[in-house]
Amino acid sequence: MTVKIVNLKLNGVDKAFMARPETTLLLGLREQLGMMGAKRGCAQGACGSCTVLLDGDPVVSCLVPAVTVDGSAVGTIEGLADGQVLSHVQQAFLDGFATQCGFCTPGMIMSAEALLERNPDPTTEEVQEAISGNVCRCTGYEPIITAILDAAARRRAATATTTPETDAGPPPTTAYESSEGMRADV
Ligand code: FES
Ligand code: FES
Repeated sequence: MTVKIVNLKLNGVDKAFMARPETTLLLGLREQLGMMGAKRGCAQGACGSCTVLLDGDPVVSCLVPAVTVDGSAVGTIEGLADGQVLSHVQQAFLDGFATQCGFCTPGMIMSAEALLERNPDPTTEEVQEAISGNVCRCTGYEPIITAILDAAARRRAATATTTPETDAGPPPTTAYESSEGMRADV
């Protein structure tokens, strides 16, 4: 049986693993690359618990043949936190009690991350649409939707505080350039 080496960038790091034609991306991630965040629920593309990002787009990794991701970038929930600092979506799920058993949570969060990356200010309906392929049997969805909207607001606030003003002109660079147009040191 043909075995191929699959090269990919996993959470920003170059990785490789061996795959048979029938190996799914989900199996490769879990059994060969040690990424246990994506969950195997239905294994039929129906529950979304295996959702990861493939070149930025959410995919159900149980339906993706591993050999087809050669040369691609794959993002999993393990790559979201910056050290001990969770992503805005992860933190909002935690703060908003948007997870109970947790089985759906990695896939749900990856779908949310993909949404907020392409749409930083989604409506409730857009959030519902984005997670329509992710099944949760515990929460009733309301806390999840609220958490994603909360995460969107946190991301926008963080972006606003880190993006310099572009229409206010350069800040004063010397004592001669104070807002009153006078020397500030005399
Ligand atoms: S395990 Fe992939 S969609 Fe259910
Ligand atoms: S938290 Fe249990 S399935 Fe969603």
